[in-house]
Amino acid sequence: MSGAVLSLRDFRVSFKTPNGVVQAVRGVDLDVNAGEMVGVVGESGSGKSVTFLGMLGLLPSNAKVEGSATVNGVEMVHASHRTMRSVRGKQIAMIFQDPLSALNPVYRVGKQIVEMIRVHEDVPKKEAWDRAVDLLNTVGIPQPAARAQQYPHEFSGGMRQRAMIAMALANNPDVLIADEPTTALDVTVQAQILEVFQRIQSELQKAVIMITHDLGVIARVADRVQVMYAGRAVERAGIDDLFAVPTHPYTRGLLDSLPRPGQERLQPILGSPPNMLKPPPGCAFAARCKYAEPKCSEGLPELAQVGSSMSACVRVHEIDLREEVPA
Ligand SMILES: Nc1ncnc2c1ncn2[C@@H]1O[C@H](COP(=O)(O)OP(=O)(O)OP(=O)(O)O)[C@@H](O)[C@H]1O
Ligand SMILES: [Mg+2]
Repeated sequence: MSGAVLSLRDFRVSFKTPNGVVQAVRGVDLDVNAGEMVGVVGESGSGKSVTFLGMLGLLPSNAKVEGSATVNGVEMVHASHRTMRSVRGKQIAMIFQDPLSALNPVYRVGKQIVEMIRVHEDVPKKEAWDRAVDLLNTVGIPQPAARAQQYPHEFSGGMRQRAMIAMALANNPDVLIADEPTTALDVTVQAQILEVFQRIQSELQKAVIMITHDLGVIARVADRVQVMYAGRAVERAGIDDLFAVPTHPYTRGLLDSLPRPGQERLQPILGSPPNMLKPPPGCAFAARCKYAEPKCSEGLPELAQVGSSMSACVRVHEIDLREEVPA
């Protein structure tokens, strides 16, 4: 038994569409422990959101979820609606990019947190209100008692995102999943929100999963990173290893496309991801990879230990992915 609060094993999500079956997530493993922040990073369409929406039973009915996903040992795949509902919100909560769409404009912010608390727990209104004010304080909202009386439109973008985090914490879940929580915010506010997540992780000992396409965000806050490509994990590494010794060409590409001081142009990864209606039989990145050889297309590569990282590159021992130092 692992001590992980969240575990994925051979987790899969596919969608039935008029054009065929979209294989969005194709066998992903992941363990996340209490007090740890894990980044999940990858290009648009790599399956980051669908993985976690799928495990929480939040996908439309054309989605098929397979494999295993547990929260505190409770299996979520094929779980009853009752199990899903009790785990969702209470043991695990998800925070999205756009807080306005998740906050109800006609209710005071405090009341929305109160409602969230009372869905799972039979607490008197006054006590729930006091807890809502405490939560607003926890996420760094000044004058929380007065703020609780206000409506979402009276909050700035950053304050709304803080309010969403407070709502997610309402039932004291063990796991927080944040899906691009800072993408819509300007850089200064983004940094403040990331600090809130860090405090939640270290002071409240929550497991935090930070989903983003931005490795820069991950670098600042995550302990470990899982890199996704075309519905698979291609690398898993500690944050320092990921930057110093990446073990997959796709990760190298992501690092090279980060904006850097003194560098005029970014180096984007050329080409585009595969069609997930018919993903290639081998490494999905091979078509865009400058190191690709015929053997890369021969079978689906699995993650394997390389140093202290896990890599799904079959050529990892034959290539040098450290940064090229200009002569
Ligand atoms: N309802 C759906 N029906 C069919 N395909 C879907 C559906 N929802 C998502 N997909 C497909 O699943 C794949 C993974 O999507 P997902 O939203 O998880 O990507 P992502 O990594 O979160 O990208 P982004 O960075 O843009 O948020 C994509 O190919 C997407 O087109
Ligand atoms: Mg997404």
